[in-house]
Amino acid sequence: KANAQWGGRFAGGPAAIMQDINASIGFDRALWRQDIAGSKAHAAMLAKTGIISKDDARAITEGLDQIGREITAGTFEFSTALEDIHMNIEARLSDRIGEAGKRLHTARSRNDQVATDFRLWVRDAIDGLDQQAASLMRALARRAAEHAATPMPGFTHLQTAQPVTFGHHLMAYVEMLARDRGRLADARRRLNESPLGSAALAGTSFPIDRDMTARALGFDRPTANSLDAVSDRDFALEYLSALSIMAVHLSRLAEEIVIWCSAPFSFIRLSDAFTTGSSIMPQKRNPDAAELVRAKGGRITGALVGLLTVMKGLPLAYAKDMQEDKEPVFAATDAAALSLAAMDGMIRDLSVNADQMRAYAGSGFSTATDLADWLVRVLKVPFRTAHHVTGRLVGKAEAKGVGLADLTLEDMQAEEPGITADIFTVLDVDSSIASRTSHGGTAAQNVRAQAQRWLDALGTG
Ligand code: ARG
Repeated sequence: KANAQWGGRFAGGPAAIMQDINASIGFDRALWRQDIAGSKAHAAMLAKTGIISKDDARAITEGLDQIGREITAGTFEFSTALEDIHMNIEARLSDRIGEAGKRLHTARSRNDQVATDFRLWVRDAIDGLDQQAASLMRALARRAAEHAATPMPGFTHLQTAQPVTFGHHLMAYVEMLARDRGRLADARRRLNESPLGSAALAGTSFPIDRDMTARALGFDRPTANSLDAVSDRDFALEYLSALSIMAVHLSRLAEEIVIWCSAPFSFIRLSDAFTTGSSIMPQKRNPDAAELVRAKGGRITGALVGLLTVMKGLPLAYAKDMQEDKEPVFAATDAAALSLAAMDGMIRDLSVNADQMRAYAGSGFSTATDLADWLVRVLKVPFRTAHHVTGRLVGKAEAKGVGLADLTLEDMQAEEPGITADIFTVLDVDSSIASRTSHGGTAAQNVRAQAQRWLDALGTG
């Protein structure tokens, strides 16, 4: 039989396969709260402007609240024949309250309705993830303050480069996450306009008050162009872009955790709570959570690329293609929330093998730059020359199988006669770190101050 909501001009009903491809209720039921909020705001506005009666608006509001309770209680029957969350709720409303329910869709279309619901949903998702990201920043900053002076090897090309502190390394991720939150906040600001009242695509002839519904739903203002309002999904794309960048950041930290807790590195140990075992190798402690965070970065980016590709080349205004906007956004949101929570737990719990980190911080001639800098500072040797002299000293140490600090003064003077015993004061890990006092450098007091600045800014949450 023909569809109850739009079947007037139809003699027959849809094929089963038509229903299957068309229905979105399987996933867009997640929008039920936003749909009810939007409908209540719309009904109140219709009454205020005299488009429907106050009695009808009251019946609609009570009916919608009742439906909300049914959904929460799990007694609401979602129907595939009714396609989506919008028609499921509207049909149930008419069942419950009759004629008044059938007036709700005046001066509205599912096109502005879904755009409104989805914006509200993404806005809530942004707020939730923002809190989670703040919590992870707090965890990182706390561990950073604790390890502001714990040396670790800093790498470039994953080759030992110069000593840094573990705190400094963790604080790098705090900065990344701060920008991630900035991008989310930016996306939120831009998305916070109300499409409601744009109707199908052209606006409406009814004397609606779009400012009133915008305000009721916490939007800053109504959207300015009805065609844009029903066909824009860049708020979702921007959200997914911000999530993708954040997920890429998390994947890098995840990868470092995987490396750090491998036996050859043994820089950290994950807690039992964030480690899994092997079904065959009894000794194994696997960093599955970190690996999964690393992988989710790929899936979140996939969601972005998927939706970009769906939207590409779509003519204005609404097209059903756009129904495919929700699953990638829902999936990416779940993945991001899980990733942030798992990372938060790993960071809070992990224990640091400071001796191992310190030992490797001093290996690989990691203070060679300090030696070269000494030649520049004390002997006024041009840096390029100092670099060359130091390179020869590294070669000499390597041939002897010792570190730079184990070379004799005579070894040094053979390459550069001006060198004095003072050079040995810059060749140990702690001196190297302590000397990096430039703005943003790894000196312990810098790291401590920066961690404290963030902890103050973030509050206790
Ligand atoms: N379920 C639809 C979606 O998610 C709602 C909008 C339907 N609009 C329409 N003209 N068929 O996009």
